[in-house]
Amino acid sequence: MLTIAITGAGPVGLTLARLLLQSSISSQVNITIYEKDASRTSRHSPGGTLDLHPPTGLAAIKKMGLWDEFCKYARFEGEEMRICDLNGTVYIHQTEAPPIEGFEARPEIDRVRLMEVLLESVPNEIIRWDRAVKEVVHEGDRWKLKFEDGSVEGPFDLIVGADGAWSKVRKALTDVEPSYAGICGISGSIDKESAGDKWEHISGMVGKGNNFSYSYGQSAMAQRMGDGTLRCSFYARREREWIEDLKANHDGDDVALKRVLLEKYKDWIADFKQWIVAAKDLWCAPLFELPVGHRFEHKMGLSLCGDAFHLMSPFAGEGVNAGMKDSLDLAATIEKAVTEQTELDSAVKAYEESVFERSVKFMTETLVNKTTMYAQDAPYPFFGVIVGAIAKETGYDLKKGWRSYLPVTRTVYGVCWMVGTFGALRRRITDMLRGKQEAIAV
Ligand SMILES: Cc1cc2nc3c(=O)[nH]c(=O)nc-3n(C[C@H](O)[C@H](O)[C@H](O)COP(=O)(O)OP(=O)(O)OC[C@H]3O[C@@H](n4cnc5c(N)ncnc54)[C@H](O)[C@@H]3O)c2cc1C
Ligand SMILES: *[C@@H]1O[C@H](CO)[C@@H](O)[C@H](O)[C@H]1NC(C)=O
Ligand SMILES: *[C@@H]1O[C@H](CO)[C@@H](O)[C@H](O)[C@H]1NC(C)=O
Ligand SMILES: *[C@@H]1O[C@H](CO)[C@@H](O)[C@H](O)[C@H]1NC(C)=O
Ligand SMILES: *[C@@H]1O[C@H](CO)[C@@H](O)[C@H](O)[C@H]1NC(C)=O
Repeated sequence: MLTIAITGAGPVGLTLARLLLQSSISSQVNITIYEKDASRTSRHSPGGTLDLHPPTGLAAIKKMGLWDEFCKYARFEGEEMRICDLNGTVYIHQTEAPPIEGFEARPEIDRVRLMEVLLESVPNEIIRWDRAVKEVVHEGDRWKLKFEDGSVEGPFDLIVGADGAWSKVRKALTDVEPSYAGICGISGSIDKESAGDKWEHISGMVGKGNNFSYSYGQSAMAQRMGDGTLRCSFYARREREWIEDLKANHDGDDVALKRVLLEKYKDWIADFKQWIVAAKDLWCAPLFELPVGHRFEHKMGLSLCGDAFHLMSPFAGEGVNAGMKDSLDLAATIEKAVTEQTELDSAVKAYEESVFERSVKFMTETLVNKTTMYAQDAPYPFFGVIVGAIAKETGYDLKKGWRSYLPVTRTVYGVCWMVGTFGALRRRITDMLRGKQEAIAV
């Protein structure tokens, strides 16, 4: 019997467990998940909505046999997307919903619902709740888990760290820790009740999917959730101390946080201030990331997947997708080694190499999105990135051959600048005709 411990019952750890349990080697492995949260119901997940991508997240859902379950909660129409600036100028409004059965689609699912689907898919007995791992300790050529309460379990043939950003398993592999990503945010939710008579207006601006606006190093984003409410977030490029202070003194204090936001968004049009005023249950979050290209030496009996392996900021929407792909690959690796009776450890090492290679790509993309979205002249540079990505997806890589001589990025920038300037002019005229904007306060 191969004993495998997974730390963390997040989306990535649960995916790995489910895949191994329904594989051809399920009778030859003993899998236990150790989770810090006290129980299934005591969890407070950060919420929000995730979009799953075909080659990664959706491939894992299919392989786990959870496609039908997933479709019960997935929103294929949730891909509706608008990108704007502080003046309310709309640069992109993508409306059409892709075909339902389309495997090309990137359906949205509430994080909470995805977790439910995954939790239902593994037997509850394999999850040990209220078991916060403190460290992994060596014993012979195997490793044991030591918990915060001092107890120890193991040794195990393999410990997989799926314990997220601040992984304790990773500590045995590298000294590198996540660093502040330079961006922090305040998020909350908006519903009919909290928005009052502004609900129809606010809700209309988001439609079925997302309304993202970027300007001068700040963003305002609103997303439709499965229950019809909206999640809004206000991210910005700021000092870490700023958000840590706010978090320490005002986390959960809606009125104080809204005042701070209204001040920071005072140059933005009234629509955004309405979002702020209508928001409730606000919370602060600094974002962290591991350095692009970070690696570690393989150690026998240990491995990582998901955020523990390659934490990135959420600006390419890849985190959960990349993580579920890790689980897909690691489960296949273990299954193959056990079936063919080859050495598990070198197979796991090869898995890690492939993740290093893949995550450089995801992490770079995320970094480029982050930098362009939060640039001083945002959103203009970001559209160059979008055009480049679309061109590449359709087989016209703009970085290759003669195409690399085309001034595409500059042209796109110029067009966006014109759209923005025209939008600003229109705003000035509307303001003039309507008279001075009404003051908005909390
Ligand atoms: C604000 C925000 C927005 C995001 N938006 C998106 C998005 O749109 N799309 C996307 O793909 N990704 C997004 N992400 C990233 C995504 O949430 C993560 O990539 C994903 O949750 C990673 O899953 P995981 O299972 O590896 O880690 P986690 O979800 O962090 O799960 C780790 C689990 O381990 C447990 N744990 C932690 N420490 C211990 C310990 N010491 N002992 C035992 N258990 C432990 C935790 O309780 C948790 O259950 C976002 C992240 C943030 C912060
Ligand atoms: C599986 O491993 C766990 C943890 O080490 C242990 O408690 C359990 O008895 C094992 N189950 C089987 C069927 O071997
Ligand atoms: C997105 O939101 C902004 C601010 O609330 C608004 O001005 C803009 O018109 C919205 N975009 C669309 C396409 O509704
Ligand atoms: C980030 O950029 C990539 C292209 O590099 C694009 O496909 C993706 O949609 C962007 N992410 C977001 C959240 O806009
Ligand atoms: C927004 O409008 C203001 C006032 O009309 C203008 O000064 C500013 O340049 C505009 N910003 C962008 C990004 O278009």
